[in-house]
This record gives sequence, structure tokens and C-alpha cells, in this order.
Amino acid sequence: MASKLVLNRLRSLCRVSQLSDVRFDKLRDPVSIFSTSQNQVTWRSYSEASQPTPINPPPPPPPSPNTSTTTSSSLNEFELAKFSAIAETWWDAEGPFKPLHLMNPTRLAFIRSTLCRHFRKDPNCTRPFEGLKFVDVGCGGGILSEPLARMGATVTGVDAVDKNIKIARLHADLDPQTSSIEYRCTTAESLVEEQRQFDAVIALEVIEHVADPAGFCKSLSALTIPGGATVISTINRSMRAYATAIVAAEYLLHWLPKGTHQWSSFLTPEELVLILQRASISVQEMAGFVYNPLTGRWSLSDDISVNFIAFGTKSAKKDETLD
Ligand SMILES: C[S@@+](CC[C@H](N)C(=O)[O-])C[C@H]1O[C@@H](n2cnc3c(N)ncnc32)[C@H](O)[C@@H]1O
Repeated sequence: MASKLVLNRLRSLCRVSQLSDVRFDKLRDPVSIFSTSQNQVTWRSYSEASQPTPINPPPPPPPSPNTSTTTSSSLNEFELAKFSAIAETWWDAEGPFKPLHLMNPTRLAFIRSTLCRHFRKDPNCTRPFEGLKFVDVGCGGGILSEPLARMGATVTGVDAVDKNIKIARLHADLDPQTSSIEYRCTTAESLVEEQRQFDAVIALEVIEHVADPAGFCKSLSALTIPGGATVISTINRSMRAYATAIVAAEYLLHWLPKGTHQWSSFLTPEELVLILQRASISVQEMAGFVYNPLTGRWSLSDDISVNFIAFGTKSAKKDETLD
């Protein structure tokens, strides 16, 4: 009875807060409902996607008075030390980055489908991203940068850990198709200072390791050309994510070193949509990654309760994030 009352209260909160067009089953974390109650949060599920992305999404809400347009440092030294300690293992498909290697085809499928639709490219050709400039922020050893380059994109990969960049460079140089990747040991905010911009800005599994997620999103937005795209993946701050991405993956299955993830650093999908919206990126589509223990494969799903990926676009109008 009590739980029914709570459920009804949450449903009414959704209505009051203009969240009624968000499917209720997406709002798994009550905290996020309370913290987003003044804002409209909408996106399209992966399975609902069939139409091209509108190039001019609705304008974002005005920034709150205490929101600075300058970006703070995204560096979290404690997190970076963890990646530095295992940098040599980036290309060991059975090592600590095994989950990312296994997820790679699935996340590339999402990137290929959303970015081809957005940039009006043929997803069935071998080099659909020919002519587009991408930046892979927090690229690690380059396991995403390389396939993006093979798909024709002009890729810049940046990471705050120098060892990662050295490994990425060495590996990319083994193949003429990837040797053109520009790898730099730097941050998104430093690239903003250099006034670099890209057609697509991609940051997969990085935001949960940065010091200031909102500032990080502003940097990603500033790096995105007007009318360009931003893709972010991360882990939901849900109880299910705690059980699977931390307890199971780190402590029971030993897929990841213990302490890789801090549950409190995860963002809910609603929070990510909001901080992107405040950074002038409008999330158009979201998908979950689900793992099938029988096949050992990941697939795309509407279930965003643990791992999820978001594709957003920046208004084609004047670049407000560089002001
Ligand atoms: C979990 S790994 C993800 C690597 C890659 N994006 C992927 O999905 O294959 C996170 C990466 O982000 C990098 N990183 C963390 N904070 C960063 C920051 N503030 N700026 C740039 N890179 C950062 C780490 O060094 C690490 O290589």
C-alpha cells in the first residue's frame, strides 16, 4: 500500500514537472526526478529512431545565473592514476579493458547509425564518415578512435594520461588506415582554449571519471561545431548498476580492477540530459547496452538502467558556449 502511494506520488511529480512525455519506466531513480523537476527532459529511445535528426533542435533553457560559461578543469588525479597504472593493457582483449573491447562493436553500431542519420551519410558504405572531423575525448589506448578512422573520419584522440597516448600512438602506427590519427595528451578544456572544433565530439565512459561533469559537458559542447553532434556513454546511478557494474564486474567476476568505479560519480540519464541541455546540446536519442551472459555479447536496448549512450546535437545557430 505504502509503495503504491509513493509510486503515485512520483507519477504526479512527473506530471507536475512537465516530465509527462518521458516514459515513467525510464525514471528509475527518484533522486533525479526531484533534482530535475523544473526542466523538461525528453529523448528518443533507440527503438523509436527512424527519422533524421532535426538540424535545428529547440533552443536550450537560459543558463542559471551562477552558471559560468568558462570551463573548469575536468582532471581528477585519483581517477587518472588508476588508468595510468594499467595503461600497458589497453590492447589486451582479455585484460582489464575486456568489457570495453566486448562493447566496442555495439557502441560503434549506435555511433554509426546516429551519426550517419544526422550527417546524411550512407551507413552501409565502408567509409561513411569520410569528410567528417571527430574528436575522441578520453580516448585511452585508442580502441574507439581506430575503428572511427577506418570508417573514414579524420580523428583526433585526446587523453589526460600520457601513457595512454603513447600506447595509442604506437598501436595506430601499425596500420596505415589509423596512422593518420592525431593523438594528444591533453583535455577537452585545453582544446577549447585552442579554439578547436569538430563535427562530432565523442566521450565514451569518461564523464564518470572527471572532476566536474557539467564543466566537462560545456567543453564538449564548445568543441562541437554548430549543427554538430555529441555522443556520450556512461553508467546510470541506479541500484542495478551498483549490483552489476560494481559488485559483479569488480568484486565477483573480476572483469575490472576493484575500485574502477565510484557509484556516486555515476549520472542518471535525466541528469546527463539536463547538463547537456544547459551546455546547448540537445539529446535526441538514447540507448542502453545490455549484456547477455549466455552469448558473452552486448546489444543495444531501450533498457538504460545500467550502461547507456546518448546522442545529442548542437543548435546550428550562433555558438553560445564560446562566449
Ligand atoms: C574508461 S576509459 C574510456 C576510454 C575510451 N573512451 C573508451 O571507451 O574506450 C576513461 C579514459 O578517460 C581518461 N580521462 C579521465 N579523465 C579525463 C579528463 N579529464 N580528460 C581527458 N581524459 C580523461 C582516462 O585516462 C581514461 O583513458
